[in-house]
Amino acid sequence: MRFMGIKERIAEIRETMTQEMREATSTQALDEIRVRLLGKKGDLTALLRGMGQLAPEERPKAGAMINEAREKFAEMLEAKASELKAREQEIALQQETIDVTQPVKNVPIGAAHPINLVMNELVDCFTGMGFEVLEGPEVELDHYNFELMNIPKNHPARDAQDTFYVDDNIVLRTHTSPMQARAMLSRKPPIRVICPGRVYRADEVDATHSPVFHQMEGLVVDKDVNMADLRGTLNAFARRLYGEGITTRFRPSFFPFTEPSTEVDLTCSACHGKGCRICKGTGWIEVLGAGMVNPRVLEMCGIDSSVYSGFAFGIGLERIAMLRYGISDMRLLYEGDVRFLSQFRK
Ligand code: DAH
Repeated sequence: MRFMGIKERIAEIRETMTQEMREATSTQALDEIRVRLLGKKGDLTALLRGMGQLAPEERPKAGAMINEAREKFAEMLEAKASELKAREQEIALQQETIDVTQPVKNVPIGAAHPINLVMNELVDCFTGMGFEVLEGPEVELDHYNFELMNIPKNHPARDAQDTFYVDDNIVLRTHTSPMQARAMLSRKPPIRVICPGRVYRADEVDATHSPVFHQMEGLVVDKDVNMADLRGTLNAFARRLYGEGITTRFRPSFFPFTEPSTEVDLTCSACHGKGCRICKGTGWIEVLGAGMVNPRVLEMCGIDSSVYSGFAFGIGLERIAMLRYGISDMRLLYEGDVRFLSQFRK
């Protein structure tokens, strides 16, 4: 290698590089040029290696030339690289533009079940009056479901509440009333609880019956609790649920765990008491059972009935949901058909 040849060689390399750079359309192509030039096996590197063959006094000058060229080339490549990168970015931006005016894909959002809507509303209503929410087992001991509710074995009231027996002592609870016992046995008066939940009966499915349904129990135990407190509480509940002008009507009834017992009707919210198809012309709709807690039940649950008294009520949630939303067939509530369920979005 001659010293004089180096300058020409650099010029040659520069020529080729400029040509190639002009043709390069991507940063990747540019990278390849860089490697071919400045990499370990690159042209300029080869030139640097060849310096060993030069006369010692020529080497510094040659080295300086090559290094200068190397820096210059690197600079040129860099400049071209940023130019190409900018263009690539611009193209990418153009291609990845989102058309915000396009209609979005409809992501299905669930809706709360009408039973849960009603349940939440009742929970709101009663917690607002100072009640505590208590939940308990659906697989319940016969002892709580029946015995402590003053329904001993062979009592005729068991007929109306036939259920699924796990064994002689364990049943699927037929009502939320056993929660009264659980509340009294786990708390000291004053007690104010509501107990929403699922209950079971050996009923055939039809438009108004289901073997699985929902209730909400209410229980208040304190000194001097009387029927007027029950009435006031349920009137407040009726107003809260259906608005002003809605009140309650008590009709004498019988439940083994309350004495006296009552069926409670609410003013028909559809006709405000005038009488219509929904209330069958009576102006009233039956929605719950209630009464003063039977002193026997208080005693069985460890509460001194000479000091304390209480009231209790049991609300059927299906009935309220059906009236509220105009649902004519109870089966619709359990079939899980989205066309039905999606109507209850708030
Ligand atoms: N447990 C009763 C039923 O399922 C409803 C009921 C009536 C609950 C009167 C009560 C009550 O707490 O006082 O038919």
